[in-house]
Amino acid sequence: MAETGPAEARPGSLSGASLVLTGIGEIVTNDPSLGEGRLGRLRRAALVVEDGAVAWAGAAADLPEGAGHERLDVGGRAVVPGYVDSHAHLVFAGDRSEEFAARMLGERYDGGGIATTVAATRAAPDAVLAANLDRLVSEALESGTTTIECKSGYGLSVTDEERCLRLARRSTELTTFLGAHVVPPDWAADRDGYVRLVCGEMTERCAPLARFVDVFCDRGGFDADEAAAVLAAGSLAGLAAKVHGNQLEPGPGARVAAKAGALSLDHCTHLSDADVEALAGAGTVATLLPAAEFSTRSPYPDARRLASAGVTVALASDCNPGTSYTTSMALVIALAVREMGMTPAEALWSATAGGA
Ligand code: NIG
Ligand code: FE
Repeated sequence: MAETGPAEARPGSLSGASLVLTGIGEIVTNDPSLGEGRLGRLRRAALVVEDGAVAWAGAAADLPEGAGHERLDVGGRAVVPGYVDSHAHLVFAGDRSEEFAARMLGERYDGGGIATTVAATRAAPDAVLAANLDRLVSEALESGTTTIECKSGYGLSVTDEERCLRLARRSTELTTFLGAHVVPPDWAADRDGYVRLVCGEMTERCAPLARFVDVFCDRGGFDADEAAAVLAAGSLAGLAAKVHGNQLEPGPGARVAAKAGALSLDHCTHLSDADVEALAGAGTVATLLPAAEFSTRSPYPDARRLASAGVTVALASDCNPGTSYTTSMALVIALAVREMGMTPAEALWSATAGGA
């Protein structure tokens, strides 16, 4: 799955157009200058695709002359942008269904199961990890996700983090180094040593394979100073910052993310007013992952509060074997609307433009 650039969706001359979609009942362009509202909605529309990218979108009546070698009448259907799943952990092996069953009987999620996946992932040959990754990415694509981010974070050694990122790059250029997911059991007696390893050799070896650096700054993960050090090391190595934070309890995640100028703070359930203000001030996107709250039976984040404060809200799957075993952005949108009070239009925007 490749990352695609923004569409040049303007009327004008087209060269070598390859496909025109006609008979579009309604199109969502995410460009307010092309249609109604933030979604840029237009009825009776047409779309031109050139070399796999959107070259033009607009009212059917304005379709540039001579556009398209091929035409496809979609029979009045809606056309929406591909989902942008900006948060997923797809390189792993093993199974955590027992942990899920225990949670449904009342056990609390505390990140402890990550170690189970780390052990299974380290033990798995590349072919097993690759087959699982390919299956999940195909499933995502079939359900409408055309851009996907993929994290490491279940290797937690220099070799295994590097291996997981190398595998992730089979599927996407949007890879994220998450060596600071938790302190793995083999480093339990020396957490400072593990943080030094992540900030040093691990970042050095993984940065060439990643675009982003991420840290789990929450109960069971890393504290504010450790998280800031991980993000600073990543930034020195050219990686843009993302943070898992404020998922399990109030804490420093939002503050650390805003201070580091992170692209996003992901989860965002337990935020103070100062946290929300800091995110708004820093232009840090709040990525909400309601399938994780669904699967951990936890409180959902307050999307309305974030949006009202001027924070950009993204929706993503958080696909992983522990807290959110789904690639379905349609499910994520449904949960955002049903459980978090987002309107369908807001949820669609957040699951496409928000993540982008
Ligand atoms: O985004 N909370 C931290 N990381 C993942 C879950 C990891 C796991 O439990 O395997 C998350 O929810
Ligand atoms: Fe996650």
